[in-house]
Amino acid sequence: MSKHTKAITLAFTGASGAPYGLRLLECLLAADYQVFLLISSAARVVLATEEEFQLPAGTDAAKAKLVERLGCDPDKLTVCGKEEWFSPVASGSAAPKQMVICPCSAGSVAAIAHGMSDNLTERAADVVIKERGQLLLVVRETPFSTIHLENMHKLSQMGVTIMPAAPGFYHQPQSIDDLVDFMVARILDHLGIEQGLVPRWGYSGK
Ligand SMILES: Cc1cc2nc3c(=O)[nH]c(=O)nc-3n(C[C@H](O)[C@H](O)[C@H](O)COP(=O)(O)O)c2cc1C
Repeated sequence: MSKHTKAITLAFTGASGAPYGLRLLECLLAADYQVFLLISSAARVVLATEEEFQLPAGTDAAKAKLVERLGCDPDKLTVCGKEEWFSPVASGSAAPKQMVICPCSAGSVAAIAHGMSDNLTERAADVVIKERGQLLLVVRETPFSTIHLENMHKLSQMGVTIMPAAPGFYHQPQSIDDLVDFMVARILDHLGIEQGLVPRWGYSGK
C-alpha cells in the first residue's frame, strides 16, 4: 500500500446493526478506500441472524463472499483475522489514521476504554487512539447502563467519536434502507467522505 492510498480500518463487532456495517463497507469501497476489515465471532452470528449472510471463518473465504455480495474490487479489501498481529492495523507505524467500528458492541466499548488489546479490533482501536487518529464507534445497545455510559464518556474525553446507531426520522424514511443510509451518511460526513445518500438538513426543499 502506498502512503498516498486512502486507507481505513473497519470493524464489525457483535452488536445489532449488521446492515449498517455492510452498507458502510460498500460506500468506503465505492469511494476508492483501501479497507482493512475486522470481523468478530459475534459479528458473524449477527450477520447470519440479521442478513442471513453466513461468513466463512477463514479470512480468504470471507473476503471472497463479501466481494461476491458487494461486487467490489478484491484488491481494495483485506479481511484480517482476529489474532493477525502482523497486520498493518496492529502497529502505529503502518495503521490507517481512521477507524470505524460499526456496529460496535458494549463489550468492545468496554475493552477499548480499558486498553485491553486482546484481539485485533481492540488493538487497532488502541493504536488509533495512541496515534491521535480518528476513531468512530457506532455503538448499539438500549438502554445504556452506567457502565456503558462511563466507558463512552471516557473514550469521548480522549477524542473518540461516539455515534449511537440512532437514525433520525426527519428525512421521512420509506424503508429500512433509508434508515441505514441515514446512519451511514453521518459516518461518511465525519470521515470527510463526500456522500449524497440523504438530503441535507435545510436543503431538501420541504
Ligand atoms: C443477534 C445478537 C445481537 C446482539 N446485539 C447486541 C447489541 O445490540 N449490543 C451489544 O452490545 N451486544 C449485543 N450482542 C451481544 C454481543 O455480541 C456480545 O456481548 C459479544 O461478546 C460482543 O463481542 P464483540 O464485541 O467481540 O463482537 C448481540 C449478540 C447477538 C448474537
